[in-house]
Formats: sequence, C-alpha cells, structure tokens
Amino acid sequence: MKQFIVMTAMLAGVTASCTAAAALPKGDPEKGKQIASQVCMACHGVDGNGTEPTNPEFPKLAGKQAEYLLKQLKDFKAGKRKNEIMAGMVANLTPDDMANLALYYAGQKAKPGVVKNPALLAQGKKIYLDGNPDAGVPACAGCHEADASGYGFFPHLAGQHTEYTFLQLKRFNTGERDNDKGLAMQSVTVKMTEQEMRAVAEYLAGVQLK
Ligand code: HEC
Ligand code: HEC
Repeated sequence: MKQFIVMTAMLAGVTASCTAAAALPKGDPEKGKQIASQVCMACHGVDGNGTEPTNPEFPKLAGKQAEYLLKQLKDFKAGKRKNEIMAGMVANLTPDDMANLALYYAGQKAKPGVVKNPALLAQGKKIYLDGNPDAGVPACAGCHEADASGYGFFPHLAGQHTEYTFLQLKRFNTGERDNDKGLAMQSVTVKMTEQEMRAVAEYLAGVQLK
C-alpha cells in the first residue's frame, strides 16, 4: 500500500513527505461535539454532513480522517490555508480543542452526496480510478483509496458536495490553496482541465461507502 502511494507520488512529481507516518491525534471527541454543536453546526451541520443545498461550498467533515482534519485546522490557524471565515472560527481554539473537534468529526458517518449532472459520471469515474495518462494526471485512487475513503493525511472524499470539491481542485490548480506543500495536490491538478475537475467532483459526490 505504502509503496503504491510512493510510486504515485513520484509520478506526480513529489517524493518524501507522502510517506510521513500519520499519528492519530489524542483527545476527547465528546468535548469536540460540544464546540461542534455550538459553533460549527451552522455551516457544517450537526453531524458534519454539511448544509447543502443552502451552502454547497461549506464542506462536509463527517468521516474525514482525524489526522487530515487536525492538519487543516492548524493550517487555518497558522494562515497556511487561507480562508477568512475559517480563520475567524479557529482563532480562539486551543490545540486540544482542535484535536477534540477532529476526532469528533472523524467519528461521524458521511452521508451520500447529491449528483446533479449524471452525464459527467463516467468521465469522472475514469479520472478517479485511472487518471489521464496522456496528460500526466495520476489516478486519484492511488492516494485517496479506490473507494475514496482516504487514509491518514489523504482525505476521505466520498459524498462531498460537488461545488466544494470543484472549488478546492481549482484553488490547488491556481495555487490559491497551497497548504499541500510536498503533498502533491498542486502538481496533480495543474495538468487537469476544468471539465475534468467538474467531472471528478460530480463522481465523488455520488460515491457511497459501504
Ligand atoms: C460561517 C460558516 C462556517 C462555520 C461556522 C465554520 N466553518 Fe469550517 N468551513 C467553512 C468554509 C466556507 C470552509 C471552506 C474553506 C475553503 O474553501 O478553504 C470550511 C472548511 C473547514 C474545514 C476544512 C475541511 C476540509 O475538508 O478540508 C474544517 C476542518 C472546518 N471547516 C472545521 C470547522 C470547525 C471545527 C468549526 C467550528 C469551530 C467550523 N469549521 C465552523 C465555513 C464555516
Ligand atoms: C500523490 C497523492 C495524491 C493524489 C494522486 C491525489 N491527491 Fe488529492 N490530496 C492529497 C493530499 C495529501 C491532500 C491533502 C492536502 C492538504 O493537506 O491540504 C489532498 C487533498 C485533496 C482534496 C481536498 C479535500 C478537502 O476536503 O478539502 C481534494 C478535493 C482532492 N485531494 C481531490 C483529488 C482528486 C480529484 C485527485 C485525482 C485527480 C487527487 N486528489 C489525487 C494527495 C493526493
């Protein structure tokens, strides 16, 4: 498994840090739940399943890896991932609060998303599983798992809102999101067309975990 990731990472033009071992954060998900239900639910839903259709650009957090979620919260706090709304949200959180929140959302069950444009599904599936070898786009499955359930710092993507996924791919592509340093997403997306990003985002919205 690890070797496969390293190979894919090398194809994508990066090496070392993809092999970094992910240590599960320590904390208390119940304490995370308290903050989540007072502060975060307005945008991410009570159980982290989002608030679509009102706000499809507010991501679902349910079922994402605790390692990944904690990294994002720290990145928002340190200004490495830039977003005005989230910068305000993490400003008063302690390191313990962030670990507790990450563990809480990681333990919630992700619900399937809504596919809006089924015509894109076949192309999206192909990119997800095989990439686009002609253009040098690696298979997403190599890092995010074949069922999009993720692993450690490689986030779970299944069931995410199409708009949110598309937006993040676009931001990695333009470099506006660059908190993946050494972790490949910028080099993955730089060779993708906008159409491919839409297609794979649509596919991911419809992926249901067993
Ligand atoms: C007012 C709306 C709002 C509230 C309240 C809010 N968020 Fe967010 N959150 C967002 C938006 C918008 C994004 C996407 C930012 C981007 O596009 O980079 C986001 C992104 C995130 C991400 C990154 C998800 C990913 O998949 O990479 C995490 C983690 C997160 N929020 C956690 C929290 C936590 C924990 C709280 C409560 C302390 C919270 N949010 C409160 C709007 C909100
Ligand atoms: C070489 C490994 C690798 C490959 C291949 C890869 N990813 Fe990623 N991806 C990552 C990592 C690592 C992150 C987390 C970056 C961070 O820490 O912010 C990520 C983050 C993402 C995110 C942001 C998730 C969120 O909730 O904000 C999306 C969306 C995504 N990847 C989609 C894709 C798609 C679609 C493909 C295939 C076209 C792909 N990835 C291929 C490693 C990879």
